[in-house]
Parts: sequence; structure tokens; C-alpha cells
Amino acid sequence: MDDYKLFKALIYKKTGIDLSAYKEKQMKRRIEALAARRGFNKLADYFKGLDKDHRLYDEFLNYITINVSEFFRNPSQWDVLRKEVVPLLLGSKKNIKVWSCACSTGEEPYSLVMLLSEFLKLEEINVLATDIDEGAIEKAKTGVYRENSLKNLPLGYKDKFFSRIGSNYRISDTVRERVKFRKLNLLKDGFPTQCDLIVCRNVLIYFTEQAKQQLYQNLGDALSDGGVLFVGSTEQIVLPQKHNFIPMKVFFYKKAIKCSQS
Ligand SMILES: C[S@@+](CC[C@H](N)C(=O)[O-])C[C@H]1O[C@@H](n2cnc3c(N)ncnc32)[C@H](O)[C@@H]1O
Repeated sequence: MDDYKLFKALIYKKTGIDLSAYKEKQMKRRIEALAARRGFNKLADYFKGLDKDHRLYDEFLNYITINVSEFFRNPSQWDVLRKEVVPLLLGSKKNIKVWSCACSTGEEPYSLVMLLSEFLKLEEINVLATDIDEGAIEKAKTGVYRENSLKNLPLGYKDKFFSRIGSNYRISDTVRERVKFRKLNLLKDGFPTQCDLIVCRNVLIYFTEQAKQQLYQNLGDALSDGGVLFVGSTEQIVLPQKHNFIPMKVFFYKKAIKCSQS
């Protein structure tokens, strides 16, 4: 077995993370670079190292999951969400079920709560936020951010929803309390059901075509009829109809409503 194949098998056994579902060239290059930086020339030795030393292990997990995020990332897409998608979803209901499914350090689900507060009372809003990376989730729960990640906040949001602590900013408890965080591996675990809005951004890019196809199917199943999937900037779905999605706006797909045959 080659070095990377063995490494993937060992990591799967240890963590349940299937590296085969991630684009191989990119992932292998990143892991080999990190291993070399820590003085390991062979991935088998690197595995032995991270199996023994939890600091190496945490570093590895952090590094492969790539947690980069920011509030209102790609702001023009959030404008579409605010002006067109949320009003449409709320048109027929009093409330909506929202899932941020690769939430990283929390900027995305907190952005959703702040945006939804333009339509609903804060106490009516509930966002489920999940990620594979427990370290990122812990940071998300703390809710403290560098100023740079706030640069796309809509006018007035910083004063309304954040307090300054030293050179950082803390999200208000009223927003923080509206998000429920939990660990979920998109390639392995069961999904919530009957979601009206799923935000799945800047994670699909890391997956192989095969993993993506399965994920589109599962995300479609997790949506309610007429529910909307919001994807990242370079993650448009090729042939959305194949997965029962209707393109709505660029980066937004609506789940087709099934007609009953009678
Ligand atoms: C670049 S961040 C995207 C954060 C946020 N969605 C955004 O667009 O700003 C990618 C996130 O995907 C998560 N991730 C990677 N593989 C995953 C998987 N199999 N299941 C769930 N989350 C995963 C990573 O831990 C990371 O937090």
C-alpha cells in the first residue's frame, strides 16, 4: 500500500474522517507539507507521531479542515438572501428552520441570526450550526473575533450586535443564544430534516465529484419542499435538476415541490 493510502486508512480508523472523499492532489500536498514541517518524511511516521501527541493531532485536524471564515462572506450574496430569499421563505410561514452545515468558527450562523433579526424577533430565531471540527465549534461558542472578520458587516450591525474587548469583538449573548452548535460530518452522519434554508458554503470545493453528488442528494433530502440551498462562490451545481433543485439565483437553489399523482 502506498504511503498516502495507508495514512488515509489509519486516519479513518482513528477519526472517522474519510480523506478519500476530499480532492486527493490538494489534500495530499497539504498533509505532506505539514508532516515535513514537523520533521516527518513518511506519512506512516507522521501518523505514529500524531497518534501519540495530541498537539500534533489537533494541529493536523485544524489544518486539514481549513476554517477560514468571516461575517457576511461575499456580501452581495447575502443581499440576495435578505432581499429575495428570506422574504420568499417567510411568505408562507411564521418561522423558518435554518441549518449552517459547515459553520467553522461561527461567523456564518451568527450572520444568519443577525440578518433574520430584520424579519423576526430574536427570540423567534433558531439556527442549527454544525461542523466536523470540534475545535472550530468551541471557538464559535466563545464568539470572540478579530476586527478583520467583521469588515463586511452591514451598517450599524457592529454597534448593535458586538461589544469590544481589547482589540477583539464579542458577539452579543442575544445573538449567541439563538445558535445551537453540534459536531456533524457531512460525509458520514445523519442530517436534520425539513430545513427551509441550508447554508453550505466553501466546503464543497474540497470534496471529490463523487462525494459532492452524494452530498447534493442528502442536502436535497434534508430540505423541505420549496426549501433553499445557499452555496459558496465557486460551488455552483452542475445539472441541478438531477438532484431535484431549481436554480433560483446564482448560488441559490430551490428544492422542487413534488407533485402528487392522483
Ligand atoms: C472554509 S470553512 C467554511 C466556513 C463557512 N461556511 C464560510 O463559508 O465562511 C470550511 C469548513 O468546512 C468544515 N468541513 C470540512 N469537511 C467537513 C465535513 N466532512 N463535514 C462537516 N464539515 C466539514 C471545516 O471544518 C471548515 O470549518
